[in-house]
Amino acid sequence: MPGGLPAARLVTARPEERRTAHEYNSWMREGTLHSIGMRLLMGKAGLYLVNTPVFAVPEEVGLQPNHRVLDLGCGRAGLGAMLARIAGLVHNPVGLDISTSMLALAGRDMESESPVDLVAGAATRLPFPDESFHLVLAAYLFKHLEDETLFRMLLEVQRVLKPGGILLGWEFAPTSSKTLNRFHEWLLSPRVKTCRLRGFGALAPYALYAGFRHVDRLHLKVPFLFPPIPRLVVMLQKATGGIAPAPDEICAAELWSSSDAARPA
Ligand SMILES: C[S@@+](CC[C@H](N)C(=O)[O-])C[C@H]1O[C@@H](n2cnc3c(N)ncnc32)[C@H](O)[C@@H]1O
Repeated sequence: MPGGLPAARLVTARPEERRTAHEYNSWMREGTLHSIGMRLLMGKAGLYLVNTPVFAVPEEVGLQPNHRVLDLGCGRAGLGAMLARIAGLVHNPVGLDISTSMLALAGRDMESESPVDLVAGAATRLPFPDESFHLVLAAYLFKHLEDETLFRMLLEVQRVLKPGGILLGWEFAPTSSKTLNRFHEWLLSPRVKTCRLRGFGALAPYALYAGFRHVDRLHLKVPFLFPPIPRLVVMLQKATGGIAPAPDEICAAELWSSSDAARPA
C-alpha cells in the first residue's frame, strides 16, 4: 500500500521522526546527482553492494521459511524482498518506513510481484500486535534516531518480537577520526539532520536497558561491498519467556565507559 498510508499513523510519530520523514520525502524527489545516486543504491542493483550480507542472514539467525519478518526503515524494501527469496519465506515480510516517498519507490519496484507488505509508520510506534515477528531487520536506520528515539524504538521492537526473537541491525560505524566521521555523516545523509554514527559501545547499553537478553556484535561471513565505510552489525535477542531480566549493570556500565569513538557527544 505504498503512499496510501493513513496520515494519522505518522501523526503519532515523534517530532524528530516526522522531520526525518519530511527530509527524506524532499530528498528522494530531487534531481541532484546525490539524490539519484542514493535512490540507485537503495534500489535492486544497490542492494548487492550496500546490503550484501543479506545472504548470510538466514544462517546467522536460524531463519525458517515459516518465520515472520519485519524490515524496519525498509526504504525501497529490496532487503526484505531478497530475504524472502533466499529463505523461501512463506509469509510476505513486512516493510515499514516513515517516508511516503520511499514507500512509493518501493511500491514501484514491486509492481509485478508483491514480495513485501509495505506499511507506513514510525519505528517508535509500530502498528503491530505484541509478539508478531521472529526477526526484525534494521539496515541503516539507527543513525537517523537520536538517543531517546533509539531507546523507544528498541522497546517497541522488544514488544513486537516473539520470545527468543531477534533484532538484526547494521549501520555505518564511526572511525577514530572525528573529521572523517563528519564527512561520512554528510556523505550519507546531506539532507537529513539526524545522522549520528554510533559504535557498539554507544548502542549496546540502550539494548540492555530495553531488556534484550543477548546483545552481540557480529562479524558476518559476507562482507559489505560498498561504500568503503566501516559497518557495525548487532544482534539483539529477546528473552525466551517470563519477565526480561534486569540489565547486567556491570556490563552496561563497562560499555558506556568504553573508549568507543561512537559514544554520544
Ligand atoms: C538509509 S535508508 C535505508 C533503507 C533500507 N533499509 C536500505 O538498507 O536500503 C533509512 C530509511 O529509514 C527510514 N527511517 C528513518 N527514520 C525512521 C523512523 N523513525 N521510522 C521508520 N523509518 C525511518 C527512512 O525513511 C529511510 O527510508
